Amino acid sequence: MLKSLKKWFDSYTRRFDSPDPAVQNAMDLKREHTLCVCGNIVDIGCSLDLCADDLLAAEVSALLHDIGRFEQYSRYCTFSDAKSEDHAALGVSVICTHELLGEFVPETAQVIIEAVKFHNRAALPDSINQHSLFFLKMLRDADKLDIWRVVTSYYHKSGTDRDPAIELNLPDVPHISEKVYEALLRNQTVNTADIRSLNDLKLLQIGWIYDVNFSRTFELIREKGYLEKLCSALPKECARAQKICSKACRYLSNKQGC
Ligand SMILES: [Fe+2]
Repeated sequence: MLKSLKKWFDSYTRRFDSPDPAVQNAMDLKREHTLCVCGNIVDIGCSLDLCADDLLAAEVSALLHDIGRFEQYSRYCTFSDAKSEDHAALGVSVICTHELLGEFVPETAQVIIEAVKFHNRAALPDSINQHSLFFLKMLRDADKLDIWRVVTSYYHKSGTDRDPAIELNLPDVPHISEKVYEALLRNQTVNTADIRSLNDLKLLQIGWIYDVNFSRTFELIREKGYLEKLCSALPKECARAQKICSKACRYLSNKQGC
């Protein structure tokens, strides 16, 4: 089942390939991201001793979680949900239109749909059952791990080539938005709708640390040095940014051994 869904994913996403290098880069970015999220969720699932059926459901949710991104970019030329539409809802409609989950029992299909639908919400929903919530948490951790991989490597890349698909067309100005700063002072994640600058985006990505669910994820964050790398991409002279960074690093070190 996984093999045929992977084959479908490949042929579906190839339809969005483009001679425009910027579009092609965006499509490649999401294809690679998806495969890495699949790897991450299997890693987390194995650390939790998941059975084969649950591992399969988790991996399928990872494979399909960003399926709406391809349609989103081709329609709006951006990955910003705020400037276009909710890519998770778009993904659910792609899954339903193509009847991708017909081979799963309805309960499992529902778990996968809910994971896709809520994977990008600022906070966990309270409208789903514990079983769905568990799969959603795995997906959110696996997704964040890979976004951290992509952005930390991008922020530290030398050269002046900007990637609007990663920067979401946000201005690189010293500004930090009040709502972003206040949420992070309360150890809360930032709402995407509140970001106005590239610094806000970096801070939002730092704030994801408050939404990590599993000890394996914390372990990988420490191992890869994601938080330190994100913090060093922010201006050293900005006291507000530095305060948020110290707070986040303290939070991570308190998670030691959890
Ligand atoms: Fe993703």
